[in-house]
Formats: sequence, structure tokens, C-alpha cells
Amino acid sequence: MASDLDALVRELQDRINEETRAVYGDVAFERWQNLIHRGAIDHPDGFARLTGTCGDTMEIYLKFKDEQVEQASFLTDGCGASAVCGSFAAEMAHGKTPDELVEITAETILQRLGGLPKEEEHCARLAAETLQEALNYYMTRQREKDSGGRDA
Ligand code: FES
Repeated sequence: MASDLDALVRELQDRINEETRAVYGDVAFERWQNLIHRGAIDHPDGFARLTGTCGDTMEIYLKFKDEQVEQASFLTDGCGASAVCGSFAAEMAHGKTPDELVEITAETILQRLGGLPKEEEHCARLAAETLQEALNYYMTRQREKDSGGRDA
């Protein structure tokens, strides 16, 4: 009896996975199964939290070393697509300088993951905008440090 139920649950799960893969594509589906770079970073150099018009919130954390991103991560309470986009945004940020980070946009995230259904493309925009805000935060703090250093 229990094994019949287990088999049914497995079959349903397989069907859901197949349908999800068909809608989102292999790259996004695989990432959804393994959301790397998820979690907060203590004492980040760059950080932002944005809430999209859909009501979902994204956080991006950046840690720099020698003007390059050494660590990047995301957190979101949003949909699966937003988690996938946050994960790719963090991955794409790794090793980048501030000038290179500016080039990470909703479009480049969508390209990287092979596109999303039209109605979920805004999830990539939320990830990209949060990343750019985290970069702004970093740049603002750098300028403050520089001007503080000069004034001292
Ligand atoms: Fe809100 Fe995806 S639906 S970020």
C-alpha cells in the first residue's frame, strides 16, 4: 500500500518535473534543482534588497577583493524563476570588476539561462536591478572611504 502511494507520488513528481523542464528549458530547470549561490554573506561590501512590482523581494550580496567580486550570493522570497535569475546573477558577478558588473542586465541573464516565458522575464529584471543596486552601494561606500581618506 505504502509503496503504491510512493510510486504514485514519484510519478506525479516526475510529471511535474517534465512539464517544468518543457516550459523553462534545461538550463533553468537544472539550476532550479540546484540553486547555487543562495544565502547571505556576512559583512558584504555591496548589498541591496529590492521588491518588484509583483511583490517579491530579491537580495544580492557582494564581497570584493582587489576590485573584483570574490563572492556573490542572492536570497529571494519570490517565484522559482526569480530564484533561478538570482542564482545566475550571482554566478555571473563572480570575478567581475565594477565596470564589468554594469554589463549584467536582465537581457544577459535571460541569455545565460536560455530565456524565460514572457510573463516571467520581469524576474530577471528584478535580479539585474538588485545586482546593480548592490554595486551602487559598494561604489558609494568606496567614494565615501576615498573622500574620508583625503579629508583625514
Ligand atoms: Fe515576482 Fe518572479 S513573479 S520575481
